[in-house]
Amino acid sequence: MKPIRKVVIPVAGYGTRVLPATKSIPKELLPLVDRPLIDYVVREALDAGIDHIVLVTGRGKGAIEDYFDHAFELETGLEAKGKIDILASVRKPILAAGSVSYTRQQAPLGLGHAVWCARDIVGDEPFAVSLPDVVIDAEPSALAQMVGEYEKTGGNIIAVEEVAQEETNKYGVVAPKGERTGRLFEMSGMVEKPEPAKAPSNLAITGRYILQPEIFELLEDTPRGAGGEIQLTDAMDALMKQQPFYAHEYEGVSHDCGSKLGWLQANVALGLKHPELGDSLAEFLRKNR
Ligand code: UTP
Repeated sequence: MKPIRKVVIPVAGYGTRVLPATKSIPKELLPLVDRPLIDYVVREALDAGIDHIVLVTGRGKGAIEDYFDHAFELETGLEAKGKIDILASVRKPILAAGSVSYTRQQAPLGLGHAVWCARDIVGDEPFAVSLPDVVIDAEPSALAQMVGEYEKTGGNIIAVEEVAQEETNKYGVVAPKGERTGRLFEMSGMVEKPEPAKAPSNLAITGRYILQPEIFELLEDTPRGAGGEIQLTDAMDALMKQQPFYAHEYEGVSHDCGSKLGWLQANVALGLKHPELGDSLAEFLRKNR
């Protein structure tokens, strides 16, 4: 079985749900406590033993590339002023030379299209996909948990989490194949935003995937689906008819930082856990209820 060495991180979307914040900066660089969103998802991939990051970028997203580069003037300035602690924080995580690739999606035609844009860089091997606006607070990281499962089962795996039954119509929901036992189970299908009474489960798809390279051929033939976009879900549905497909209910808490409320909640939740800021933030929240 080939190991998971690469993660595709699509960052070419418009981020319309968080406008106007994203009018002139990429959504993926919105700060979450003291680091941009993209930093969390890259660290998660490194934690999972993945050593090559593939970013699918687009117009106006150049600052993301700069984030993973050295900032010579800044570093020299900080060094000259003796600000060694701050210097260490801007140097990390600089990805090793050659371990990050960029490809460009000329127009945001959908998540499926963004993943397809990475086909030549990924090549003929299984790979992960991580959505950077979904930040998962987990130990070990959600992707590390999935890679661990993959090493036992192979095939394709998507991350899921429990949502309230009455809210299934907000999510993509998976249908377990037969009786479900444990956190990893085989799937028979996925349903987009099912009404609670018709939902095959209350397990929602959560922005982390391990996929076999055959997905690329299927994406090539996937017509535009919901919202006029090429949907990754449609191609995964087709792949499920050919290969084993599993859902993994990870241990952890996710935050949808692609929505205004989710981003605010994530800042509070992770801010409270921050070793230097947590106590002061808790005090502030107590006084300002
Ligand atoms: P989202 O659907 O959350 O991002 O896609 P979006 O389209 O930017 O946001 P809204 O819905 O307009 O608010 C998840 C990830 O996939 C990327 C986004 O940049 C985001 O990181 N994406 C989405 C692409 O790279 N290309 C696309 O065509 C669509």
